[in-house]
Amino acid sequence: MGKFIIKGGETLSGEVNISSAKNAVLPIIAATILSSGKCTIENCPMLLDVFVISNLLRSLGAKVNIDLNTSKLEIDTSEVKCIEPDSELVRRMRGSFLIMGPMISRFGKAKISLPGGCNIGTRPIDLHLKGFKALGVNIDIGHGYVEASTSKLIGDKIYLDFPSVGATENIIMASVLAEGETIIENAAEEPEVEDLSNFLNKMGAQISGIGTDKITIKGVKSLTPVIYKPIYDRIEIGTFMVAAAITKSVIKINGTNEEHIKPIIAKFSELGINMEKDNESLIIDGRKELRPLDIKTMPYPGFPTDMQPQMMALLCCVEGTSVISETIFENRFMHVPELKRLGANIKIDGRSAIISGVKELTGCSVKATDLRAGAALILAGLAAEGETEVSDIFHIDRGYVNIEKKLNGLGASIKRV
Ligand code: UD1
Repeated sequence: MGKFIIKGGETLSGEVNISSAKNAVLPIIAATILSSGKCTIENCPMLLDVFVISNLLRSLGAKVNIDLNTSKLEIDTSEVKCIEPDSELVRRMRGSFLIMGPMISRFGKAKISLPGGCNIGTRPIDLHLKGFKALGVNIDIGHGYVEASTSKLIGDKIYLDFPSVGATENIIMASVLAEGETIIENAAEEPEVEDLSNFLNKMGAQISGIGTDKITIKGVKSLTPVIYKPIYDRIEIGTFMVAAAITKSVIKINGTNEEHIKPIIAKFSELGINMEKDNESLIIDGRKELRPLDIKTMPYPGFPTDMQPQMMALLCCVEGTSVISETIFENRFMHVPELKRLGANIKIDGRSAIISGVKELTGCSVKATDLRAGAALILAGLAAEGETEVSDIFHIDRGYVNIEKKLNGLGASIKRV
C-alpha cells in the first residue's frame, strides 16, 4: 500500500502524453476470447486493472504476454477451456464481469463470481443478465456466483432501462456470434463502447449503429484475431486539463480526440479557461481567473461521472458557488470528506454537492477511497499549500499509467513512498 507525498504550489509547464483508455482496453481484452487465436493490443496502458484481467484470462487457460517496453499485449486464447475464472481476481475488479458475454458466446456456458470494483454504489448486473436472457441464456444465481448456460444464442431486440456501458458491451460480445440479428435500444454511446465495436468489426463482426443508442449486430460464424490500438483515455485527458487549471499553468496534452472530450471542453469553456487545439494535442492555459459553474453527470455525451471528483477538486479553488449533481452512481461523493480535510467548503444535499470556493487548500493526510477520488486528491494536493499525503494509492494505479511520473515531468513534486 504505497502513498504519494505531494508538495503543493508548483507551476506546471511542458507536454504530457496520454495513454490508451483503460475502459476501452478492458472489454477489448475480454473480447479476445471470441477469436480463438492470438490478438495483439498496441499502446496498451500498463495498469493494475490490465494486469488483473490478463491474469483472469490466464486462469482460463489463455497465454498472455505483456511487454512493458513496447506497451504491447499479446493474448492467445486458443487454449482457453475452463469456464470458471479465478474468483479472487473477479472480486478485485468489476470490469471482470465483461468476460461473461464472450464466454457464453464461445462456450455456451460460464460461471463467474459476483463482481467487485470501486466502492461508488451498488452497481447491479441486472441489465447484463436481461440481455443474456433475451439471447436465450439460462441464468442461475446462488452462493455468490452467476452461472449461465445455453444450447444456442439467438438474436433478439433488447431495450436497456438505462444505457449501461458494461451491459451494452457484454450484450454486444454475447451476440456477435449469435444466430440472426440483435438490436440493442437505449444502448450506451460512450466512446469506449464504440472502440470495442470497432475492434470486433475488425475481427469480422457485423455491428452497425456504432456510437448511437441503437446498435444492430448481425451474427457471424466466426471471428479472426487482429492487431488493434485502442483510443486515448478521455478521463486521463480531463484529469490533466484539471491539473493545468488548478495550478494556474499552461500545458500541452498530446493524444486527444476532440469529439470524445467535448463535454469536458464545454465545461472548461464555461469556467473561462483558454484552450487551443493543435492536431491531436490540446494546449490548456489555466492562468485566468475562473468562474464557478454547475455540473450534472450524465451518460455520454453528457458530462462523465468519471471526471466528477477531479472537477470538484478544481471547483473547491474557484471563487463563488458551484453545484455538482451526480446522477449515475448513488455513492460517488466519498472524496468530499477528504477534500474537506484539505480545507474545502462542500455541503452534500442528496445527490448534489454545493461547493463554495476557498482562497486556499492546505496540505494534510488524506485517503484515496476509489480510483477517480484518488485522482481528485492528487489534483487538490498540487494546489494545496504545504505537503499532502495521499494513501491507498493502489486505487489510483488501477487506472492511471505512471501518474506521478507524468505530473513530475510537467514540474510537479510528487514522491511515491
Ligand atoms: C463503466 C466504467 C466506469 C464508469 C461507468 C459510467 C468500465 C470498466 N467502467 O462502468 O468507469 O464510471 O461506466 O460511465 O468501463 N446499472 C444497473 N444495472 C446494470 C448495470 C448498471 O442498474 O445491470 C446502473 C449502475 O448501478 C449505475 C449505472 O447503471 O448506476 C451506470 O453503470 P454502467 O454504465 O453499467 O457502468 P459500468 O459499466 O459498471
